[in-house]
Amino acid sequence: MKVAIQVPATMANLGCGFDCLGLALPIYNTVIVEETVLPGSGIEINIIDEKNPESISNIPTDKNNIVYKAIELLYGYIGQTPDEMKITIKTQIPIARGLGSSASVIVGGLMAANELLRKPADEAVLLSIATEIEGHPDNITPAIKGGITLSSWEEDGSIIYRQLPWYDDWKITVCIPDYELATEISRSVLPKEVAIKDAAFNLRHSAMFIEALHTHDSELLKIAMRDKLHQPYRKKLVPGLSAIMDNLRHTKGVLGCFLSGAGPAIGVISCGANLGEVKEIVSSTWNDMNVNTQFHSLPLDNEGAKRIL
Ligand code: HSE
Repeated sequence: MKVAIQVPATMANLGCGFDCLGLALPIYNTVIVEETVLPGSGIEINIIDEKNPESISNIPTDKNNIVYKAIELLYGYIGQTPDEMKITIKTQIPIARGLGSSASVIVGGLMAANELLRKPADEAVLLSIATEIEGHPDNITPAIKGGITLSSWEEDGSIIYRQLPWYDDWKITVCIPDYELATEISRSVLPKEVAIKDAAFNLRHSAMFIEALHTHDSELLKIAMRDKLHQPYRKKLVPGLSAIMDNLRHTKGVLGCFLSGAGPAIGVISCGANLGEVKEIVSSTWNDMNVNTQFHSLPLDNEGAKRIL
């Protein structure tokens, strides 16, 4: 049996919603898992990135591979161990840019294993196991469900989520710089504790964000996406972030901009066509720092992870 799962890229946090808001984008990784028939062939893992083959050179292809670990956990869920299989990971989502590449392959591995084992795990179990591996649900939930989601990792390990509305006149631009930033490093600069005034700031802004989405309120969205819990600490890891965000905020049509997940990519939400201006602002800062940027203006992916084979 051979199973292929296609999983979208994601952008997490969206400014105010640290570790709980995220959205899915139509850039995909695909995890293909094949049961091998020859006994003794063990686990074979291949990773293919046609556009940037050098970006995958450090990813393990043994049992330390995160996709294998996800598959192993799902087999463990029904008391089994995977023994003979061929895993192929086809990547299009840039690695370590804050676009959910690890969440996508975790989800792909878990869902492929679940199909091979004839679906012992339901959606709630998949969400919990995937979040356990990733450490937070904000990329995992939109990777599985698509769209834009609010999710919470509850104390009992369950994931509570809701999909939120989105509108065709709100456009997303993804600005992807040509360097990597590991989530681990980006989380290491965050303080263990924050001032209650900063917690209260994000609390009220994330409430505004949800209200803005439910009422299609662009003016409220403009205020809502601000953050005091993670971006201020991460700006030292993403040179130019403050200047870019300050300039974007004053650009016609921009409703909000944010560090995507743990960075370094930046997301921009706009109303109306302003890709040229966004490109100009981001490039003029990052070019001066010798950073090249790829820009994509994309709709949401509304399907989430799906079996394609
Ligand atoms: N919410 C996470 C963070 C996303 O900001 O660290 C990382 O993928």
